[in-house]
Amino acid sequence: MTMISRRTFMLAATAVGALALAGVAIAEVPKLAQKDTYKVGFAQTESNNPWRIAQTNSMKAEAEKLGFQLVYTDAAGSAAKQVADVNSMIAQGVDVIFLAPREEKPLIPAVMAAKKAGIPVILLDRSVDPSLAKAGEDYLTFIGSNFVEEGKRVAEWLVKNANGKTKIIELEGTTGSSPANDRKKGFDEAIKAAGGFEIVASQTGDFARDKGRQVAESLLQAHPDADIIYAHNDEMAMGAIAALEAAGKVPGKDVLVLSIDGGKEAVQAVVDGKIAAVVECNPRFGPKAFETMMRYAKGEAIDPILVNEDKFYDASNAAAELANAY
Ligand code: AHR
Repeated sequence: MTMISRRTFMLAATAVGALALAGVAIAEVPKLAQKDTYKVGFAQTESNNPWRIAQTNSMKAEAEKLGFQLVYTDAAGSAAKQVADVNSMIAQGVDVIFLAPREEKPLIPAVMAAKKAGIPVILLDRSVDPSLAKAGEDYLTFIGSNFVEEGKRVAEWLVKNANGKTKIIELEGTTGSSPANDRKKGFDEAIKAAGGFEIVASQTGDFARDKGRQVAESLLQAHPDADIIYAHNDEMAMGAIAALEAAGKVPGKDVLVLSIDGGKEAVQAVVDGKIAAVVECNPRFGPKAFETMMRYAKGEAIDPILVNEDKFYDASNAAAELANAY
């Protein structure tokens, strides 16, 4: 690759910035200069579960290791607050913004505002509506799991291990979020293709334990013959287990519980026989996120999607893997 001089790079970056300020649409992601240290924004969506906490800890640990200043915000489950958080980072003059968008559409203005301000955005873990913002154009890249594949892996395990159980309650994640949309798509399509199963109810539990418990409780009352619960994350799976036990049912025997995330508590529940299988959603983003940012600063081409590797836990490996779960 041809090396460009620092002066040429700075002139190009300034010209792009001037066009953006003049309101001219730029079809490329803002550049990132090579520096010894950076001021980096990380706009987290919420901190109400072990997955989010593990992700935040991974980002903070990597920033500290590199000696970068991290401007961290927690949107506390509000897309409106997350947009305001990104605007505040822009006002503080961060060099780059890592964004874990709570929902696909409401965070588009934040992505576009950063682009207009000449700040590259890297999406972490959740994506935005691809018809409204594009990788390599409006934001640099999406780093995260393949959520469709996660849902499909749960369905494929179920098809092989259902043992005559057929009636499914699905607990969906946050409405309008990419993991809720894609985990549903991957699971529902694979279950339909396999045949012989029925999704008797599918409702959001907002990725939260207590909401998951409440929704599972009311859906179990409406569908007492349901014998499978597929939860889009561990928190709702743990809530569903509490609902089953309160209803006098034995999770793992009367009802198979399936989950996604693979936190320590859920992997322990697999060891205890309460959860049948969990697809991991790897929350350790720090090293890959910062490495990608620095590769971009060096001028390397960055793929539009960087997919994380996810493990799978069931009775065959949960005890051995427990120590490695987050
Ligand atoms: O976007 C990933 C999902 O968000 C995780 O499954 C969930 O636990 C978190 O809140």
